[in-house]
Amino acid sequence: MSVDTAAAVAERFRELYGAGPEGVWAAPGRVNLIGEHTDYNDGFVMPFALPHTAVAAVSRRTDGVLRLHSADVGGDVVELRVDDLVPESDRNWTAYPSGVVWALRQAGHAVTGADIHLASTVPAGAGLSSSAALEVVVALALNDLYDLGQKGWQLARLCQRAENVYVGAPVGIMDQTASACCAAGHALFLDTRDLSQKQIPFDLAAEGMRLLVVDTQVKHSHSEGEYGKRRAGCEKGAALLGVDALRDVAYDDLDAVLDRLGDDEEVRRLVRHVVTEDQRVEQVVALLESGDTRAIGPVLTAGHASLRDDFRISCPELDLVVDTALASGALGARMTGGGFGGSAIVLAEAADVETITKAVEAAFASAGFTAPRVFEAVPAAGARRVS
Ligand code: GLA
Repeated sequence: MSVDTAAAVAERFRELYGAGPEGVWAAPGRVNLIGEHTDYNDGFVMPFALPHTAVAAVSRRTDGVLRLHSADVGGDVVELRVDDLVPESDRNWTAYPSGVVWALRQAGHAVTGADIHLASTVPAGAGLSSSAALEVVVALALNDLYDLGQKGWQLARLCQRAENVYVGAPVGIMDQTASACCAAGHALFLDTRDLSQKQIPFDLAAEGMRLLVVDTQVKHSHSEGEYGKRRAGCEKGAALLGVDALRDVAYDDLDAVLDRLGDDEEVRRLVRHVVTEDQRVEQVVALLESGDTRAIGPVLTAGHASLRDDFRISCPELDLVVDTALASGALGARMTGGGFGGSAIVLAEAADVETITKAVEAAFASAGFTAPRVFEAVPAAGARRVS
């Protein structure tokens, strides 16, 4: 995020609220390299941060008033009282920042109000964690201003609680942790059971490769039922198998475990995805650590097949990106994020990027789909104060 953007957001804050902000913070969106729908199964994920960020200019208040404004939504400043925040009472964008204030106060932090102006470059509904970026930027700003002393992973937990309880979306912990904890030039290998982390160097350009994000422009929302249904199905599988979470099923035991699930075909498919996906994350980590980066391509592609066929959360647009990219020479491709639309990622040799991009655009045009938005993703920094 440029200094210009921070200055512009601070200037708009001054116009709205009559004085400059105490500070400006930024928190990124993410793409997930591998490890999809594993986070609410206590499993492994591997996201990295995008250069696209939610930016917040913020000042404290002592009178219990919370004032919110978004450059992206426009309209008037929304004014609330921190004592009046009630879970699932707000269906608008304001639920994300309000939910964070609510979660902080629930956790015993004396947040007595704030003036907040937000502006985000993370595309909304594109599976790139625009909501988590909004939550984390507000949490980090209040953590700094109110001197709460919370670490990135602790803020991520608070933001997840805001989204689960206040917003009412049953998401896992990946997106908030990615936004709070990612590092430039690295992918984050995260164990979602205990939030232990390892930063894995991920510099594709140095090896002559690129990672493309293809936003299909098919919008999705996690508050809608399908995400929750998959989550409930995974929890049912864990209960039937007598484990705390599907993470506890060893990959080597998968066949025996599937036999034990008998003819509950839906649960068998969900379990198979989660157990094989955790294994794919570990494979990708091992390949990257041994310097065999190109070999992660087929693992990403196998992840897509599993999400499409076993987890059943792909859609024709995502499948078309993956199939077209692979047919045009991509090393690997998969949907990323929650599914049912949003974005796919494509790993490619730098020399093939133009051919692949043109082929995907042409395939979308001939299928009659809305033109996709294609951009290159380079791992960027996690949440930080910018002024
Ligand atoms: C969404 C959720 C995450 C995670 C992914 C799927 O992005 O917010 O918690 O479950 O879907 O991997």
